[in-house]
Amino acid sequence: MTPLTTAQAERLLLYVARSPDDDLAAHLKSRGWNISIARSTHDVARLARPDATCAGIVDLTSFAARDIAGLESALRQQQIGWIALANNERLADPEVRRLIRHYCFDYVKIPVANATIDYLVGHAYGMVTLCDLDFVAGVATAGDDEMVGTCEAMQQLFRTIRKVANTDATVFISGESGTGKELTALAIHERSQRRKSTFVPINCGAIPHHLLQSELFGYERGAFTGANQRKIGRVEAADGGTLFLDEIGDLPLESQASLLRFLQEGKIERLGGHESIPVDVRIISATHVDLEAAMRDGRFRADLFHRLCVLRVDEPPLRARGKDIEILAHHILHKFKTDSARKIRGFTPSAIEAMYNYNWPGNVRELINRVRRAIVMAENKLISAEDLDLEHFTAQQTMTLAQAREAAEKRAIESALLRHRHRLNEAATDLGISRVTLYRLMGAHGLRDASASDEKTLFGGEAEGRE
Ligand SMILES: Nc1ncnc2c1ncn2[C@@H]1O[C@H](COP(=O)(O)OP(=O)(O)OP(=O)(O)O)[C@@H](O)[C@H]1O
Ligand SMILES: [Mg+2]
Repeated sequence: MTPLTTAQAERLLLYVARSPDDDLAAHLKSRGWNISIARSTHDVARLARPDATCAGIVDLTSFAARDIAGLESALRQQQIGWIALANNERLADPEVRRLIRHYCFDYVKIPVANATIDYLVGHAYGMVTLCDLDFVAGVATAGDDEMVGTCEAMQQLFRTIRKVANTDATVFISGESGTGKELTALAIHERSQRRKSTFVPINCGAIPHHLLQSELFGYERGAFTGANQRKIGRVEAADGGTLFLDEIGDLPLESQASLLRFLQEGKIERLGGHESIPVDVRIISATHVDLEAAMRDGRFRADLFHRLCVLRVDEPPLRARGKDIEILAHHILHKFKTDSARKIRGFTPSAIEAMYNYNWPGNVRELINRVRRAIVMAENKLISAEDLDLEHFTAQQTMTLAQAREAAEKRAIESALLRHRHRLNEAATDLGISRVTLYRLMGAHGLRDASASDEKTLFGGEAEGRE
C-alpha cells in the first residue's frame, strides 16, 4: 500500500487570472482553500507544485485572445483539476472551446456566484484526487480494484488493514452487505507476507450443506459413491496463502467442528483419508449477520468464534462515510463511463444531494449498481437523481411546505409546457389559469427565456409559441 496520509489535509487552489477578482479570492479563502494567484503562465510554472494535487481556476476572459494559446502548457498539468471562467465572446473561439474540452473539468460563464465556483473547484479537486491514485491519500489497492476512502472511518480501516496484514492471526470482518468485506480481505492478503501464494475465497452460504465438508477439506478416491478421484479441498488449496471464509455465519455445525479442529491442530484430513496433512493458511472470515445472536441461539459455536476473531475489522456502512459517497460515485463513474457512448461528465447537484439523503442499505455494491444503470440511462452529460432512481431523495430533509408547493408548481408548469410544446394558450388551459398568469409564473420560476416568440404568443395572440 502506498503511504496514506490525511486526505483532507489542505486543499490547494491555483487561480490564474490577468486581473484576479479579489472578492472571489477572499471567498475561496474563507471556504478553506489555500489559494495562490498566478497572473501569467510564467507565474503558473513557478507556483504549480508537480507533487501536489490541486484545483485550478483559469479566467479565460481576463487574458487577451493572443495569450490564450500560451495557457495550454499550464492547463496540461495533470495534477491540477481545472475549472474555466469564460464568456460568450471567448466561447465563440474554437481554440478556447478545445482547451476547455481537453483540459477542464467544467466551465462557467461569468458573472457567476462565488459559491458556484467554490462548488465546482471542490469537484475538480475531487476528480483530480481520483486520477492521481498512486500518490494521494484515500485509496488502497486490492487486486485490480481500488478501495476508495478518505473519511476518518475509512482511514482507520486502512490503518487497521496495514497492522493486521503484518501478523498471521485470524481476522474477522464484520459489516453490512456490500460494504467491501471481500475487498478488505484481499487487501489484507496482498499486504501480508503470503501475497505470493493464493487467496482462496469460499462463500459458506452458497454451498449446499452436504457438500461443504468435501469442499473445505477435499476427499480421497472412493470416499463415497461418485468420488472417482482425489479432490483437494479449499483449505489445502490455500496452503501458504490466505483462506477467506465468507458468510461464516452460514457454516453448519458439522463444518464448524471440523474447522475448529483444523484451527487447533493446523492439520486436515481429507474425507475418506486417514492421513493428517499439515496446512499453513491464514484465515480471514466475514459475515453480515449478527454472530453474537447466532451464538446465543446456539447456531454458532462460541469457541470457534473466539478462534476466528483474534483481530476484528468493522466495515463502516456507506451512509456513515460522508463525502466518500460522492468521491466513490465519481470513482465508479470514471471506471464505467465507457459503458455509454455518451460523454458523461458527472452528477447534477440534486443527484449528489439525493445520494447524501439516501440510506444505502446495499452500500457500495448498491452505489455501483445505481451508477452503472444511470450511465446507461442518462440522457444528458450529467447523471440526475432520476437516472439513479433516487428522485424521491432530493431535498427531502430540508424542504419546507412552501418550497414543496413551489417545486410542485414548477414541475406542473414545466410538464404542461412540454406537453404543448410551449404553446402557452393550451398549457394555460390545461393548468386552469389564464395565459397572463402562466406567463407571470414562468417568469417567477425562471422558465421564460424572454424570447421574442413568447412575447408574441402572449401579446400578439399567435397560436405558436417558441420552438
Ligand atoms: N471502499 C471501496 N472502494 C471502491 N470499491 C469498493 C469499496 N468497497 C467495496 N467496493 C466494491 O463494492 C463491491 C462490493 O464489495 P465486496 O464484495 O467486498 O462487499 P461485501 O461486504 O463482501 O459484500 P457482501 O456482503 O454482499 O458479500 C465490490 O465490487 C467492491 O469492489
Ligand atoms: Mg462478500
